[in-house]
Amino acid sequence: MPITDANVLAPSLDIPSIRAQFPALAQTVNGHPAAFLDGPGGTQVPQRVIDAITNYLRHDNANTQGAYSTSRRTDAMIAAGRAAMADFLHCAADEIVFGPNMTSLTFAISRAIGRELKPGDEILVTRLDHDANVSPWVVMSEDRGVTVRWAEFHAQDCTLDLAALASKINGKTKLVAVGYASNAVGTINPVKEIVQLAHRAGALAYVDAVHYAPHGLIDVAALDCDFLVCSTYKFFGPHMGVLFGKRAHLERLRPYKVRPLTDAVPNRWEWGTLNHECIAGITACVDYIADLGRHARQHVSQRPPAPRREAIVAAFEAIHQYEHGLMKRLMAGLVRIPGLKIYGISDRARFEERCSTLAIRIQGHTPLELATSLGECGFFTWDGNYYALNLTEQLDVEKSGGFLRIGLVHYNTAEEVDRLLAALRELAG
Ligand SMILES: Cc1ncc(COP(=O)(O)O)c(C=O)c1O
Repeated sequence: MPITDANVLAPSLDIPSIRAQFPALAQTVNGHPAAFLDGPGGTQVPQRVIDAITNYLRHDNANTQGAYSTSRRTDAMIAAGRAAMADFLHCAADEIVFGPNMTSLTFAISRAIGRELKPGDEILVTRLDHDANVSPWVVMSEDRGVTVRWAEFHAQDCTLDLAALASKINGKTKLVAVGYASNAVGTINPVKEIVQLAHRAGALAYVDAVHYAPHGLIDVAALDCDFLVCSTYKFFGPHMGVLFGKRAHLERLRPYKVRPLTDAVPNRWEWGTLNHECIAGITACVDYIADLGRHARQHVSQRPPAPRREAIVAAFEAIHQYEHGLMKRLMAGLVRIPGLKIYGISDRARFEERCSTLAIRIQGHTPLELATSLGECGFFTWDGNYYALNLTEQLDVEKSGGFLRIGLVHYNTAEEVDRLLAALRELAG
């Protein structure tokens, strides 16, 4: 029997109709259909996101708080964007802060948190994280005389050494910064447990969910984290960053800000003029995900359309199931390629601990050579460290080009996976 998306993978996502919503996916390279396996670097956007951005610029383009129609519509549009992200993360709308990207937001909040710290205090960062959740804390610590402690990972499967991490949290720890999922090797960290460890010691928990956001449901209420950051361009939206902060922290901490900017939460954290057209795109992106959930659920029941948060929960159930099907297929093919090494969890029984982002190397080829050859045949993959620099240094692959990263999201297909495997087999010789 031929293997198709329909008989191997979850029935609940209608992949052809999903793909039809993403105009970029129709591209070709040298006559080959483009396979966007570069989701961890940034995903493509559905037409409705493009339309929302264009419509805002055409009809509503204005600065905020003006006494005229386009400005009032802009205020309403930003409020709608906040409400959409509040549904996405499961918090209140005034706990949502918009910013240019996750890195800038993290630098901003780290400086404000640093104002409350003193020499002798400690913070904990991990060796598995993207540098955007490391350097802002390290630089702030240098300024404030704070000690930085490092949580290491197990080299054999790229999972955090939890016992060692717990032993480094103590009464002096003021903040634990941890990633939800690794953007290089796909490990999903036990974030809830780490938040609890931080809280037991009276420390704040700061979660980088940038890589996790396209793959799994985020529930900041259930996690009880103090802050969580993500970037909408990683989950089918425009290039922007979003921070959730518990209201009490957003009110208490003192931001570096200009005097005329209101002290109200969350605006006191949003400096200068925001990217309004992108916020319009964010609402459209969250609605795209919610509609995905509504359709996936319609497939199995005839219940009336779900409210947005409920629909987002359904979307991630379907996305998880579908992506895991693709990942199993990819992994099963990769392990059979001679000279190919997979970094991170490769044991099927432990796939719930990882998402569909794979880092590999092939003996005799640098990751750049592989990415370039694949690129010429239409496969978009990444080579290098993707700013997970401590990880590539620790695994001693930094000097030889890092990894080749294959990222699968829900618009990828089993057919793309099979074509990629064939191309890799050929390259491995
Ligand atoms: C896990 C992770 N954290 C943080 C970032 C930085 O995000 P931004 O580009 O929004 O600053 C990235 C970007 O690749 C990432 O993958």
